[in-house]
Amino acid sequence: MSSFPIARMRRFRRTDGLRGLVRETRLVLDDFVMPLFIGPSPFANAELPGLGRHSVDTVGLEADELVRLGVRTVILFGIPDEKDDDGSGAYDDDGVVQRALRVLRDRHPQLVLLTDVCLCEYTSHGHCGVLEDGEVDNDETLTLLARTAVSHVEAGADAVAPSDMMDGRVAAIREALDDNGFDATPIIAYSAKYASAFYGPFREAAESTPAFGDRRGYQMDPGNVREALRECELDVDEGADMLMIKPALPCLDVIRAVRDEFDLPLAAYNVSGEYAMIKAAAARGLIHERQAALESLTAIKRAGADVVFSYWTKELAAWL
Ligand code: PBG
Repeated sequence: MSSFPIARMRRFRRTDGLRGLVRETRLVLDDFVMPLFIGPSPFANAELPGLGRHSVDTVGLEADELVRLGVRTVILFGIPDEKDDDGSGAYDDDGVVQRALRVLRDRHPQLVLLTDVCLCEYTSHGHCGVLEDGEVDNDETLTLLARTAVSHVEAGADAVAPSDMMDGRVAAIREALDDNGFDATPIIAYSAKYASAFYGPFREAAESTPAFGDRRGYQMDPGNVREALRECELDVDEGADMLMIKPALPCLDVIRAVRDEFDLPLAAYNVSGEYAMIKAAAARGLIHERQAALESLTAIKRAGADVVFSYWTKELAAWL
């Protein structure tokens, strides 16, 4: 290796063209997933446009625009009309997500449709599973998650993404999908999902804040990285087709560790709080939104994510 003055690192930083020539990490729209919230009625969120809501009747128009901009993949979240103890809206064949899937499948055959498989938006208590003596019952919940996944795929989902963090959910979903003839449908496992403060704006949008307690009994402790590798290993054994780390920016080291250890495609979820912080700072004139967003998304890719779930996906399509 040469050193100064023979080496001058600034030579390739001189012009935009030279910088572009040596850029190691690039953002390509194909790698991005746009989350869409489907509720009983539409709601435009002026502060956080990515966290606005669509109804079954309006989601088609939103999809038209996304497709026109070049977005290839969306993930659907549902906010049902009514919630109950067992989260039955999640596996109702006539539920919001199932109905939206039928609309979108028909209207845009090429659009990749993913679904979030979890009960928290559908339970009256807001936990990600059914309760037994005030605690989330792991094994009872698995049956309902598997039913939810099958009903999503029957309605047109291309892949399902379980985000509940119950033990054994990937195996339970794989078995149920296979039993129903869906052995070609991939599972994107939110393998390492941390109990994070950065989900706050999502829980507002999805009305899924737990009525009591918190999610630390099933989501991971932010201090742990070896445990994340073990979660991934178990999910690979159970048949996961893609791994996911969530949140993204507070977990860049976890993304890198998983990238180095596993060969499966890897996703990272740039969550609502990561998006809202920059939006809020930009609204106060403290930060340049577009630059901060592009830098965040580039950092997530550079850490090793192949796929990024981000509320900026729609704006990114316009920026790119
Ligand atoms: C559902 C789910 C959550 C998110 C994705 N799926 C919320 C949670 O676990 O509380 C968070 C997404 C975000 O904050 O953008 N279980």
